[in-house]
Amino acid sequence: MSTRMTVNYNKKPCYDIVFTDSFDALASEVENLQLGNRKICVVTDSNVDPLYGEEMVNCLKGVSSKCVKYVFPAGEDNKTLDNIKELYKFLIEEHFDRKDILVALGGGVVGDMTGYAAATYLRGIDFIQIPTTLLAQVDSSVGGKTGVDFDGYKNMIGAFKMPRLVYMNMSTLKTLPDRQYFSGFAEVMKYGLIRDEFFYTWLIDNLYEICEKDPAVLEEMIARSCDIKRVIVEKDPTEKGERALLNFGHTIGHAIEKFMNFELYHGECVALGCVCAAFISWKKDLLTKDEYYEIRDMFVPFNLPISIDKLDMEKVLELTKSDKKMDAGQIRFILLKKIGKAVIDDTVSDSEILDALCEINFDEENGI
Ligand code: NAD
Ligand code: GLY
Repeated sequence: MSTRMTVNYNKKPCYDIVFTDSFDALASEVENLQLGNRKICVVTDSNVDPLYGEEMVNCLKGVSSKCVKYVFPAGEDNKTLDNIKELYKFLIEEHFDRKDILVALGGGVVGDMTGYAAATYLRGIDFIQIPTTLLAQVDSSVGGKTGVDFDGYKNMIGAFKMPRLVYMNMSTLKTLPDRQYFSGFAEVMKYGLIRDEFFYTWLIDNLYEICEKDPAVLEEMIARSCDIKRVIVEKDPTEKGERALLNFGHTIGHAIEKFMNFELYHGECVALGCVCAAFISWKKDLLTKDEYYEIRDMFVPFNLPISIDKLDMEKVLELTKSDKKMDAGQIRFILLKKIGKAVIDDTVSDSEILDALCEINFDEENGI
């Protein structure tokens, strides 16, 4: 059983997202793209390779002239230009030309890096996303943002590059460690908070099924998340305006990610960033106090952090100001007017950021 969704770019169909529960239909999906009998390089990481690498190469052998595999060391700290350089070398040694294809098999790190290599190798070659984490399925594989970190600064180098296909085998989530699964859930919660209060309520109503990874609920959650993202990226593919709403929680989240040297996962930092942004929204009278506490506390049953130990607040403020979400020297924040409605705000001051960081800084007295 599979369903699909088409994502438009410049008002024309650009790529399909296939939602399914095995790799059985992958070869025929790739064949349907009529890419010709080209070489394929499956790019994956050292955790995903032993799980799905061989199956992937076997699937794609029949629809390519040659299928090779390139494996990065896993982890955000490997999302670097140095590793992209190693991939370029491998592609040159394997004589990859402009019509050959990269396949990103893995989470957001593999997807972002493979997409960036595809955007830049020989000025651009085709690539396919095969996301295997919840985060990559609901967010990073859709919309064409690709890139790498630079000196620990998140996604500082990058390009927009649309995939030719996004093939989601949702059964790969069965091997994903729980902590990674819930980290991905932070981006799902983000969609409800910025865009769709009915989806937010649906998430709360299905809390048990989501935590238990019920397949039918998972499929609906992933497809609804992709649909929310699809609508936004179709209107604003290169983040001239509305797409920035997807950065809710990321402004401070990225700074915490760097501050913690990637010991906390991306989604965990996004959850903390969402709490900060909701707090600032309350302090600016956009949200009520009750709404703020409801948002903050809803991350807890999904195993996401709402506070952090020993935060160096001045340092995180400084890192927040070095993130790329700046506009003419002013940090661009995404705030909430209510659950389901986000706005861009350029007026958040240093002291408002410090107050928000103080709110998430672990306090032994009140236990959060
Ligand atoms: P990740 O790619 O590091 O994957 C998390 C971990 O899970 C890794 O150790 C990986 O090896 C392992 N893994 C992957 N699939 C697995 C599976 N099925 N079973 C077992 N283990 C598996 O991290 P992520 O959370 O998927 O992605 C985070 C990255 O995505 C960040 O770099 C973030 O900046 C980026 N991101 C990009 C966008 C975008 O629009 N391009 C959006 C959101 C996040
Ligand atoms: N994850 C943010 C974006 O795709 O724009």
